[in-house]
This record gives sequence, C-alpha cells and structure tokens, in this order.
Amino acid sequence: MDSVNSIKELHQRIAVWRAAGESVALVPTMGNLHAGHLELVKQAQQRADRVIVSIFINPMQFGVGEDFDSYPRTLEQDAAQLQAVKTDLLFIPPVQEVYPRGQAAQTVVSVPVLSDMLCGASRPGHFSGVATVVCKLLNMAQPDLALFGTKDYQQLLVIRQMVADLCIPVEIIGIPTVREGDGLARSSRNGYLTAEERSLAPALYRTLCETSAAIAEGNSDYRVLESEAIQMLEAAGFRPDYYSIRNAADLSEPEGETESLVIVAAAYLGRARLIDNLVVDKC
Ligand code: PAJ
Repeated sequence: MDSVNSIKELHQRIAVWRAAGESVALVPTMGNLHAGHLELVKQAQQRADRVIVSIFINPMQFGVGEDFDSYPRTLEQDAAQLQAVKTDLLFIPPVQEVYPRGQAAQTVVSVPVLSDMLCGASRPGHFSGVATVVCKLLNMAQPDLALFGTKDYQQLLVIRQMVADLCIPVEIIGIPTVREGDGLARSSRNGYLTAEERSLAPALYRTLCETSAAIAEGNSDYRVLESEAIQMLEAAGFRPDYYSIRNAADLSEPEGETESLVIVAAAYLGRARLIDNLVVDKC
C-alpha cells in the first residue's frame, strides 16, 4: 500500500487515477483503526475504483483538557490493517501540512445550530474543528464520495450540512454502526475502559434499545423516557452527559407527529466518554 504525507504527493497519486477515468472515495479517520473504520473502507471499495484513507488526529476538534495528548496513536498497526484490506492509498499529513499557519490563523468552517447542541454544547468548538478539517480533507483529495459512520450521528449531520451549504461537489455516505457482540459500538475510546467498565459498557446500547422499544409501542412521553433512561445509566455506573430523543433529520426537539426519531446519548464510564445512538424502530 502506498502512503503519502504531503498534499502534493496526494495530488500526484490521484491525478494518475483520474487520468485513467477512475472514481475516488475518501475515508477520513483519526487512526487507531477498528472494525468500524474497516467497514467504511469495505463500503468505499464497493462504491469507488480507488479508496484513500486519511489518518490525522485533528488538534482543532479537541477541547482544553480533552484527550488529544492521550489519544491512541497506533500508526504501524493501522497501516498493516489497511494494507490487509487492500486500501489504495494512506494519507498521513503532519499537522504543519494541514495547518501551515498554525491553528489560530486558520480559516474556520462553522455550521450553526447543529453544532451548538448535544455533543457541541458539551464540547464547545468541537464541531467547527471537525467541519474545518473535513472541509480541508475534501478539498485536498477532491473525492467523488466520502464515507462516515452513523455512530457519530451529529458529526454526520454537521458534515452533510457543511457540504450542502458550501456546495462541495462530493457525495456523503453514512454507514451503520459496527458493534461488538454484546452491542457496544466499536470506538477508539473503548480502549480507555478498564475490564470492569468494559463489562458495564453494553448498558448504553441496551438502554437505547429499551427506549426505542417503548417508543415503537406508542409511548410518546419523551421527557419521561429520557429521565428513566438516565436513571438506568446511572444505576449501571455511567455519568450521563445527555440522553435525548430528537428528530432524525435535524436533531431538533420532536413536537407532535414526526417522521423519524433518533435517540442520541453520551455518557462517561470512568475516563471514557462514550456516544451512541439509535434510529427508532431499528432494534
Ligand atoms: P474517528 O473517530 O477515527 O472515526 C472515523 C470514521 O469512522 C467516522 O466517520 C466515524 O463515524 C466512523 N466510525 C467510528 N466508529 C464506528 C463504528 N463503530 N461503526 C461505523 N463507523 C464508525 O470521526 C472522526 O474520526 C473524526 O472526527 C474525523 C471525521 C476523521 C475528523 O477528524
């Protein structure tokens, strides 16, 4: 597998494919790859002739006191996994390549409303960091499509809105969450869990399933369902950040009859902040 560090080399590799009329997909990641990331690569391979995976731990999307410094850096294993699934190109830009004038001088993309709620309320600046780096990666690679996980549901909506608002010519594809056998969503941050916390962690998905089943049975007392779920999570050892039933289309609060709902949750277990979601009726 070919691997490049600079935008110039990236352009050179892509130009060869484009000259041959090949389509290109981009899978942006922060590395420490697991089955969820590899599913994105597989889905990309089914949809495009060439697949680029980027690994960049984006400092702009981490807040003060968050886990930027301790975020797992496992480049060797990541490259081996990507090679095994026949990724065409690995793009690993150093921070100076992405933010050559430093972060403070960087033009920032911010997606209003969507970025301010839920994870955005708990992590100010997070989604403008995500939108900025994804915008830059899309402009660097100019792929036909880019794939993201629905596990990061709010992130996917932020990216879709950015692409629509800025008329970026790319198709954004959302891929369903890959889970462990016990339901826990695969995540690089699961590695922060102790053995005991790991055994408690599936309660997050179980709780989402219970709320979803209650809604499917006709219970529309969303505030009560949310507070019951928070109690269940606390009883299971979590420190819930938020647990909320929202409109699936735009994460607004549901009022009356709605098309489709999503239950979104974030909760701390030890030092890990776990997020998960479930579109209702999918249990
Ligand atoms: P990262 O957490 O490395 O995730 C990279 C991609 O993998 C994201 O689109 C994420 O939604 C997806 N993903 C993670 N866990 C998954 C799972 N269990 N099943 C399916 N897909 C999963 O998300 C980021 O990086 C960054 O914010 C990024 C978009 C790269 C911008 O820096």
